Amino acid sequence: MKFKIFHAPDGANSGSGDTDTRVLTPPPVLHSADPDAPTKITAREVSVFYGDKQALHDVSLDIPDKTVTALIGPSGCGKSTFLRTMNRMNDTIPGARVVGRIEMDGEDVNAKSVDPVLLRARVGMVFQKPNPFPKTIYENVAYGPRIHGLADGKPELDGIVEDSLKRAGLWEEVADRLHSPGTGLSGGQQQRLVIARAIAVEPEVILMDEPCSALDPIATARIEELIDELRERYCIVIVTHSMAQAARVSQRTAFFHLGRLIETGDTEDIFTNPRERRTLDYITGRFG
Ligand SMILES: Nc1ncnc2c1ncn2[C@@H]1O[C@H](COP(=O)(O)OP(=O)(O)OP(=O)(O)O)[C@@H](O)[C@H]1O
Ligand SMILES: [Mg+2]
Repeated sequence: MKFKIFHAPDGANSGSGDTDTRVLTPPPVLHSADPDAPTKITAREVSVFYGDKQALHDVSLDIPDKTVTALIGPSGCGKSTFLRTMNRMNDTIPGARVVGRIEMDGEDVNAKSVDPVLLRARVGMVFQKPNPFPKTIYENVAYGPRIHGLADGKPELDGIVEDSLKRAGLWEEVADRLHSPGTGLSGGQQQRLVIARAIAVEPEVILMDEPCSALDPIATARIEELIDELRERYCIVIVTHSMAQAARVSQRTAFFHLGRLIETGDTEDIFTNPRERRTLDYITGRFG
């Protein structure tokens, strides 16, 4: 299902600092998960240690393709740690150790034969704080395709940049200033720029760690709408502290607590009829 967009009455959003005046209406019912979606990522008994401290305990989870999976749970429960196991970002943290098995399309992502740089192009990541490179808008998007040799010449590279910016819903706002610094955009635009940058290298999976927590409600709505569009093509995993956001954008939800996966299921079931008391307490705000 697509979000419905309507135009706010004139001036309703004036002063927001963002040129996008559209407002998102939440879907009337929760999105349902596609029971036939194939599994993209399989985690089996995944534990993560930072030095002697165990942050994640035996997490087993199947993540379906062309679906948005939300990871929820209180601060420190291991959501970001689990997200990072999927593109081996924990490799970059000194003292971090991952055990267990993570497969993408049946392939062990931790195998010696897997180049982590190539893996991170296949499994892109978007962070809480937009992090454009200190380069132009064009170069932010062109950089990945260029280093991965995805474009045969300048016209093709230009095409990839335009297409990625269009798919990230940013093209119309930046087409006339592609050679201005990416850091000169608003926060919401920067977040769409880094999404365009991730898309440009033709990923299969997009990991998002609280991608809207630094954004205002209008920019948040714009990113949520984009996530809903992107799921037609990608496997998306999003960490969020907003229960409303998890309900709006995801079809599957996994609830973590104290480094353990407590419960996972269709978002609709988790939010209307959780099996575990701890899940109920968390989603109803009784702890967090
Ligand atoms: N680089 C690190 N070095 C040591 N410990 C870490 C590191 N990163 C995370 N931890 C610890 O691992 C546990 C899980 O952290 P993680 O960042 O995955 O939680 P989270 O669920 O993403 O929390 P938040 O919602 O606050 O972002 C915490 O106890 C945290 O202190
Ligand atoms: Mg986190």
